[in-house]
Amino acid sequence: MLEFINPNNGSFLSNKGDYLEDEFGNIFPILNGIPRFSTEKNYTSNFGFQWNIFSRTQIDQVNNKIGSSQSETRFFLTTGWKASEMEGFKILEAGSGAGRFSQVILSQTKAALYSFDYSEAVDANRSNNKHFDASRFQLSQASIYEIPYNDNSFDKVFCFGVLQHTPDFESAIRSLITKAKPGGEIVVDFYRINGWWTKVHAKYLLRFITRKISHERLLFFISLNIRWMIYLFDFLCFIKLGFLTRFLPIADLRNFPQNLDSKQRIEWAILDTFDMFSPKYDNPQRLDNVVNMFKKMNTKVTFSGLIKLNELSNQITIVRAIKI
Ligand SMILES: C[S@@+](CC[C@H](N)C(=O)[O-])C[C@H]1O[C@@H](n2cnc3c(N)ncnc32)[C@H](O)[C@@H]1O
Repeated sequence: MLEFINPNNGSFLSNKGDYLEDEFGNIFPILNGIPRFSTEKNYTSNFGFQWNIFSRTQIDQVNNKIGSSQSETRFFLTTGWKASEMEGFKILEAGSGAGRFSQVILSQTKAALYSFDYSEAVDANRSNNKHFDASRFQLSQASIYEIPYNDNSFDKVFCFGVLQHTPDFESAIRSLITKAKPGGEIVVDFYRINGWWTKVHAKYLLRFITRKISHERLLFFISLNIRWMIYLFDFLCFIKLGFLTRFLPIADLRNFPQNLDSKQRIEWAILDTFDMFSPKYDNPQRLDNVVNMFKKMNTKVTFSGLIKLNELSNQITIVRAIKI
């Protein structure tokens, strides 16, 4: 496995049991078996809260039982990677959340995975994936702007569901590219600006209030109201007025896997609605702007556009690029 470095000065870190230390005496604690490069409270506390409550909701395999394959399908469709060709690859996962995609790589490929997240979601990831061999899975709590690995280290880098929630989209992309080897591939997804109407949406109309409400209270309000909102959402779709659902303060249920039972659907709806209203940052981007960011950072863009995950859903916007 790759060694961690101190992201502030680039020096290697040795493992002292409870902490990592560099030659200058700088230390980073190891808590719950996870090196922490960012222990202070930061703007991602909503995600730490969310992923530790809903730690298993979106995980394909819970207790080694296969529940669904939605994360697997999304991962391979989005990246275009083939599990059989990934043996021995070093993969970097940025912003791993509760570890749904970590699990896909660990269970479906023979690659070595290096995952990090800025929030305490790493604890949920660990509890979901601790049964995988530590010789191919290294987890840390770190920021995308200070990734604790040497530059040019990874064959593949991916970052799903994260970039729109960072304060500086372009610097985040630059940081990911820096860590890929020359010839390595970077795949990202992001919320897209389609036109002026993108922000005419309950999310953007209400977020300036909701993101300031305490996480507990916001979750309480959402849970209290979720049933009638699901009912109304489904009704609007049924009478072919689905376009009006953008004014309902609930996540887009059409993006959910089709095989959820009603209890799971409620749980997903609460999780995704919290995920929509609680983040400090929500910065959708124009596709051509993101492609240009990649182009000016020494990469060749191999694909940019939409990936359709199921018949009903909105698509995911992605960019794939190779580092030159
Ligand atoms: C919507 S969640 C997506 C999690 C996971 N990729 C998934 O799709 O299930 C966004 C994640 O990005 C993480 N994040 C946000 N800013 C970050 C940063 N600067 N560095 C690393 N992770 C960050 C959050 O903590 C959160 O877990």
